[in-house]
Order: sequence, then C-alpha cells, then structure tokens
Amino acid sequence: MNLSEFDSVPLRSEVSDIMDSAEIKVFNKSHSFPVVMGSEEELAIDIGSLRSQSGGVITIDPAYVNTASCQSKITYLDGEKGILRYRGYPIEQLAEKSNFLEVSYLLLNEDLPTASELENLVSQVSTSHNLDPFLNNIIKSYPNHAHPMCILSSLMVSLAVNETGGHELQSSKEASAVLAKVMAQTAILSANISRHGSGLGFIKAEQGLSYSENFLNMMFDNKGHKNFSTMASALDCIFLLHADHEQNCSTSAVRLVGSSQVSLYAALASGVNALWGPLHGGANQAVVEMLESIERDGLSFEQVLDKAKDKSDPFKLMGFGHRVYKNFDPRSKVIKSVCDRLLGDLGVDDPLLEIAKNLENAALEDDYFVSRKLYPNVDFYSGIILRTLGIPTNMFTVIFALGRLPGWFSQWFEMHSSPETKIARPRQIYNGHTNRQYIDISQRV
Ligand code: SDX
Repeated sequence: MNLSEFDSVPLRSEVSDIMDSAEIKVFNKSHSFPVVMGSEEELAIDIGSLRSQSGGVITIDPAYVNTASCQSKITYLDGEKGILRYRGYPIEQLAEKSNFLEVSYLLLNEDLPTASELENLVSQVSTSHNLDPFLNNIIKSYPNHAHPMCILSSLMVSLAVNETGGHELQSSKEASAVLAKVMAQTAILSANISRHGSGLGFIKAEQGLSYSENFLNMMFDNKGHKNFSTMASALDCIFLLHADHEQNCSTSAVRLVGSSQVSLYAALASGVNALWGPLHGGANQAVVEMLESIERDGLSFEQVLDKAKDKSDPFKLMGFGHRVYKNFDPRSKVIKSVCDRLLGDLGVDDPLLEIAKNLENAALEDDYFVSRKLYPNVDFYSGIILRTLGIPTNMFTVIFALGRLPGWFSQWFEMHSSPETKIARPRQIYNGHTNRQYIDISQRV
C-alpha cells in the first residue's frame, strides 16, 4: 500500500486487514513491527524493538518531522485539511460558543464541564489570588528593559518554592485545582511584569471579574472602559485559540523535561523558554515588528516577499508557514474575524491590519509561498488584536504562554498519568573523530 498519497490511506476497516504490521528490511533481513492506528485513522510504525531486532540499527529523524513522541487524547489536528479539535470539539465551535476557562477544563478533564463544575473552576481561580511576596520582589529586581518572557521564565520555576511537585496528583479533578491556581497566579504575575516594565505599580485581581477581565484590568486598570467587555471577550478568544496544539515545540519541551519527574513548575518553565523563540511563540511579536517596519520604511510587498524568498537573507515572512499546517491554520481564520470585529466595535482603524491583509494576499498569489504551502498561521493576525487592546508588543508572547498554560498542564498530566511514561532520552548517530591517542602539549603544533 502506497502510504505516500495521503488520500489513498485506507479506511479503518481496511487497515486491520492489510496492515497490522510493517516490514523493515535491514541487511536483507526483514523485521516486522506493529502498526499503531489512532482514532482518526493516523498510522504509525511502532519501532520500539528495532534496535534489539536489528542488532543495533536505529532511525534518525532530525526535528522529529516524521516521528510521534507519544499517543495523546487531548488535541487532534490535520495539517492537510486545516482541522483543529480539542477533545473532539472543533476549534471554530469552541471559539464561538465556549470560553477560555471552560476550554481549560475540557483539555484537562476530557469533557466539557457541567455548570457546577465550571462554577467550581471559576471559584478555584478567583480564590487563588494570593501571591507570596517574594515573587513580586523577583519582578522588581529586574531592570525595566528586561524582556517579559525572561522574567516569566524565572517566575514559573520559582512557583516550585511553595508548591508541591505535582506528582502527587492522582486524578484530573485534583489536578484541576492546581491548574486553576497556576493559571490565576501566572496571570497576576504576567500583568505585574508588564506594569513593572512600564514603571507602574501593580493592580490587584478582583472578585467578580472573569479570568480575561481580571487580566485586562490588572494590566490597565480599565474595568470602567466603555468597551471593557468587548475587549475582554476578544482576549478570552485569543487565550482559547492558543490553549493547546498537540506536540509543538514548547509542549514537547514540557513533556521531555517533565519526564525526568522534575517539578511541574520546572517543566512549565521549559515550555515558556521554548515558546519564546521567534520561530515559535515569539512570532507574534516578530509579525507586528515586521508590519511596523513595512509601514515605517515604506517597503513594498514585493520587496518584503523578495527578502523572505532570498536564501541569503535570514528574514522570513513572520506569521507564515507551519510545520504541520499545509493549508490555512484554522486559528488564523478565526483570529482574523475576531480582529475585524474588535476593530469595528472599537472604531479603530489600524493601518497594520490593512498592510497585513494586503501582504497575505500578495503572498498567497506568489508561487514561492503557494508551492511550499505557506499560509498565515496563528501568529499572523493575533498581534493586531493585542495591539488594539493596548498590550505592549514585548508582552505578546507572554499572552501566548498564558493561553498555552492549560495545554502544557494537560499534556504534562496526561504524560504523568500514563504508566508507560519513561524518562525521554533520544539516541544519536556519532560522526566525530574515531579512536585516537592523547598527544602531549609539547608535541602539538
Ligand atoms: C507556532 O508547531 C506548532 O504547532 C506551533 C504553533 C503552536 O500553536 O504551538 O502553531 C505556534 O509556532 C506557529 C509558527 C510561528 N512561526 C513563524 O511564523 C515563523 C515563520 N515561519 C517559519 O519559520 C516556518 O514556517 C516554521 C518554523 C513555522 C516551520 O518551519 P519548518 O516546518 O521547519 O519548515 P521549513 O523551514 O522546512 O520550510 C520549508 C520551506 C523552506 O524553503 P526551501 O528550503 O524549501 O526552499 O519553506 C520556506 C523554508 O525556507 N519557509 C519560509 C517560511 N516558512 C517556511 N520562507 C519564508 N518565510 C517563511 N515564513
């Protein structure tokens, strides 16, 4: 069966007949390996016994482009079809009908909460506003110009000072209380980081405000703003859309670091660090800086696209392309409509939005992007929403981290709850010097 033609992969009923195993021939000897099929009929060859069966031969797959690190029930995405579902629910429906805390419950507990379960989670968040003062002292110890992700990373691991490691958690219900606390505390600390960067005092979280309302008010003291609820619901949708995305770079970092049975907070801090990279969560900041430079320098779209295509130029079209999506990122479509609606409701006319839309159209008509299936990803329009809310550009990836926190947590808990989990330890192929003898320094030239 030719698996390379995606649309020719047989249906579930057919696979069990013709592919319950895969053959790999090594040195003319065939070895058989079981085939794993997921609930959406994805197929993987389980090569767990390859090294022992073949006398030491292993596979190599830099950046794990073709390699699954785990099986997971949390998020399903189909990059060819532009599908994204959290626990089976399409992201489009959740964005329209749900909210960030409800989705956070869903990711961890597998099902949507009842009204009382959601009320309980909201209450757990709203009763977790007390912070140990040393955490704010850490923020104040940083110079104002420190990047917020740098400070967030140190705060995330510092939460381990007063909290247990998380390994005692036996059920998702128990874990929900810990998730609520880490989400609440990280939101407060993130707002304080931003206020510190602006040389402002901190604002306390308030009872009676939703998670996103509280975050906005702690950022700007703006709960009295006439468009406060409109702005908070736009932010809530941004958080929801970023909540999980299967085994992306930062989630893989959380799982890998967490597999050593280090504290949950140390594993979450590794997610923060991986997300900061401009190829990953740092792209939302890079997109707005790119759009601002186009506006400031008067670059034509042709000039920008030529730079992105020039292999000798490190510049990439930020917010475009994706390891998995070779179609539209379904989140970018929702974010674009949230962006249009928010700017319309607020009567904001942001020139960067027009530049972004025209740049998208130009790229989608350019064969370089079309042939490589490079489409706008989650980061292309999100920064324009955050900018409209008044969030400083260097805080954009912190917003991404707040959104991804329930996903990181749920993936960590799924890994931690699995009896098969072992410490992750990839192998390598050594291609350095072969055996050689030490040379005394007097003999070296
Ligand atoms: C996120 O994995 C996730 O799920 C991540 C994420 C999540 O929710 O967790 O979705 C969030 O990280 C989104 C991605 C944000 N990053 C960016 O927007 C940065 C710009 N994008 C690129 O750096 C790139 O597209 C990546 C990093 C996103 C994906 O890179 P890959 O999969 O390694 O693809 P590649 O580099 O092998 O690209 C294939 C080709 C190359 O050209 P050729 O060698 O074939 O000539 O496409 C080119 C690349 O040079 N290419 C781009 C490009 N992205 C890919 N060329 C110009 N501009 C780009 N943005």
